[in-house]
Amino acid sequence: MPGAPLTGAGRGEWRTSAGFILAAAGSAIGLGNIWRFPFLAGQNGGSAFLIVYTAIVFTIGISLMLAELAIGRAAARNPVGAFAKLKGGAWPVVGFLGVLAGFVILSYYSVVGGWTIAYAVRAAGGALATTDPAALGSIFTHLIGDPVEPLAWHLVFMALTIGIVVGGVNAGIERWNRILLPALFVILIVLVVRAVTLDGAGRGLAFYLKPDFDRIGIGTIRDALAQAFFSLSLGMGTMITYGSYLARRENLLRAAGSVTGLDFLVAFCGGLIVLPAVFAFGYDPGAGPGLTFITLPAVFAHMPAGELFAVLFFALLGIAALTSAISMLEVVVAYFVDEWRMTRRTASLVCGAVIFVLGIPASLSFGALAGVTIGGKTMFDAMDYLASNLLLPLVSIGVALFVGWVMGDRAVEELTNRGTIGFPAARAWRLACRFVGPAAIAWVLLSGL
Ligand code: PHE
Repeated sequence: MPGAPLTGAGRGEWRTSAGFILAAAGSAIGLGNIWRFPFLAGQNGGSAFLIVYTAIVFTIGISLMLAELAIGRAAARNPVGAFAKLKGGAWPVVGFLGVLAGFVILSYYSVVGGWTIAYAVRAAGGALATTDPAALGSIFTHLIGDPVEPLAWHLVFMALTIGIVVGGVNAGIERWNRILLPALFVILIVLVVRAVTLDGAGRGLAFYLKPDFDRIGIGTIRDALAQAFFSLSLGMGTMITYGSYLARRENLLRAAGSVTGLDFLVAFCGGLIVLPAVFAFGYDPGAGPGLTFITLPAVFAHMPAGELFAVLFFALLGIAALTSAISMLEVVVAYFVDEWRMTRRTASLVCGAVIFVLGIPASLSFGALAGVTIGGKTMFDAMDYLASNLLLPLVSIGVALFVGWVMGDRAVEELTNRGTIGFPAARAWRLACRFVGPAAIAWVLLSGL
């Protein structure tokens, strides 16, 4: 039986505003920004995708971020406990779906996180120093199809994640994000400078930055909306959980603005690294998910000091993935710590182990278990589909409706620290939570089914 929920100082609190912002930005900035965003932009007309994505992030995206933070800080609980405390009834189910999504997404996210470590190691050993796309393709398929190696890296990745979460909110999450995130920004800037100064980068820059409204279609909008939620870590209760460790005096409006802005900036830089480089060397920008792992090593091999840049790039991707993985595990751990009175250590180890095991079939679905399909999808794809196309949108709709209709004025009071901070967009925000957000997300949900 769950004991009385843990509240107050015993749960932990961010030490500084900057610590919180870095941790939340670390959650948002991940594989979604540096791997997923560039290939989606490449497939969806470059600048067309960028335009739609920008519009969505700074309207619906930031509104939902505010909604999660308001719920989290008002309740100071994990996603399930937060809904129970603020309203009860069937609402905790919304939080529960978020916790479930945490289990599912982290299990395969960690598999991809493992690939990035494997690639950083390969790059350091010089194994990627070839310009032959076919050879690089086979390096990738061999790695992911191997029955043992990716599982070992998946284990390493989960062990790192667990190790940091065990340390707790300050000593673990806040401290490590303060080191890892700035490191990531530095590597990112170096790579942007390298990419945009390549001979022939101009066509890629034009593709990415010269406005092209003709290529905006329904598919672009749908992909951009789904990408915005994934990238901002919305729909899993991540921001509810991180918000629950925020002090009353903090300015949530400013925090949400910073986190959204940083996340956007890194995705924008991801595109600025990948697209000019791909064009400079004549690769296909629409190559899809393989773009990072197959095409970029070839790009690096073409560059002076390419090996160094390859190591830097995959290290960066691994760091970004790790700070996101931490936030997913934290959602799950917070639930067991708050509601089941588990110690942080036990919850981290047990949940981490379960997630590792769940990830095994996802990893093997690129090799030994490739033939096992659920509704025509491999297990990896089925898990991604279930979580990203079903659970995340459902939770986001629940969050928006809860804040818009159930919390009402209380949510605005939370965001303005009881009226002491100006919030000129309060009415627009409420409209977004009541109608626009839920309708747009419902549309993505239905069109994805
Ligand atoms: N936002 C992370 C990324 O872009 C992924 C993530 C999703 C993290 C949901 C937490 C919750 O990679």
